[in-house]
Amino acid sequence: MHMKRLISERSVWPSPHFVQEHRQDMVAVCAELVTGLTSSPARLAPKYFYDALGSRLFDAITELDEYYPTRTEAAIFESRVREMARHVAAGAVWFDLGAGSCAKAASLFGVMRPGAYVPIDISVDYLRGSVAALQERHPALPMLGLGLDFSSALELPAEADAWLSGHDLRAAARCVFYPGSSIGNFAPDEALRLLGQARALCDGGGAGSGLLIGVDRVKAKAVLDLAYDDALGVTAAFNRNLLRHVNRLLGSDFQPAHWRHVAFYNEAESRIEMHLQAVGAQTVAWPGGQRTFADGERLHTENSYKWTPEAFEGLLRQAGFGEVTHWSDERGWFSVFWAQAS
Ligand code: AVI
Repeated sequence: MHMKRLISERSVWPSPHFVQEHRQDMVAVCAELVTGLTSSPARLAPKYFYDALGSRLFDAITELDEYYPTRTEAAIFESRVREMARHVAAGAVWFDLGAGSCAKAASLFGVMRPGAYVPIDISVDYLRGSVAALQERHPALPMLGLGLDFSSALELPAEADAWLSGHDLRAAARCVFYPGSSIGNFAPDEALRLLGQARALCDGGGAGSGLLIGVDRVKAKAVLDLAYDDALGVTAAFNRNLLRHVNRLLGSDFQPAHWRHVAFYNEAESRIEMHLQAVGAQTVAWPGGQRTFADGERLHTENSYKWTPEAFEGLLRQAGFGEVTHWSDERGWFSVFWAQAS
């Protein structure tokens, strides 16, 4: 009897709408990888960190004592969410960039009371699962999953516009939510472009629209160096795993054990740089090409820019945002910014 009731309740749970714009074009992926590998110095884009194992290794990084950003940001949200809610309009449509498990946004729903939730992620299958599970927990909240690579262009597909109109949400305020300090993985000019697109997304909404974003701050080099080169070697494994992923995508023959993890804070550029350094001279081959690396030669894998609040506020204003507020932890290591669209 109880089982029957469960089954019939399940059957009335709505399933979230899903739009998949992003499909991996393997020809383009291989062309991009080869361009990076044959450049001087060689480079690989950080988006290739995140295969299944890489995503798990990143989750492990967030648990490390040395990696302060995730827990510092979580503590800021926990202690200041009510103040934030005075800026973010209740009933707003939330666009969650790089939503993944959707857990960060979902933890704010109780106080923020969104009118609809639109998680966006390049990992289409992962997002499909997490938005479906979240919809079960919030059956009355309209949800639209968007599988797209917003790092190349943050634009709503026509189907999403139609979905918003269908839910009578065209005139609702919009909150673009971008936690996790992932904006730091973009160079300042690319970050400005993305923030400009976030501003344009807000334009489609009503009064009270804006951007809620987590930003990692400039701090002592010793703290930053350790956060990206931890004692357990988890970040080193995360960095080297990129080579396994590239081997699968490109058919190359990188030997991860022959590469050393190098990470340091470059104070002049205000950024962490991650590299892989060849241990011994070696030749890496892939279908149609190869490259010889000298002993000690580096392959650049990631930048993670750190911002002062003043510089980041300047960037937000350059992107077209109006009033800017931010909340920080007592050490001043991390900030969450609210930037009003107008
Ligand atoms: C995802 N991103 C914000 C992380 C960062 O801190 O730049 C990626 C990372 N790379 C090494 N550790 C963490």
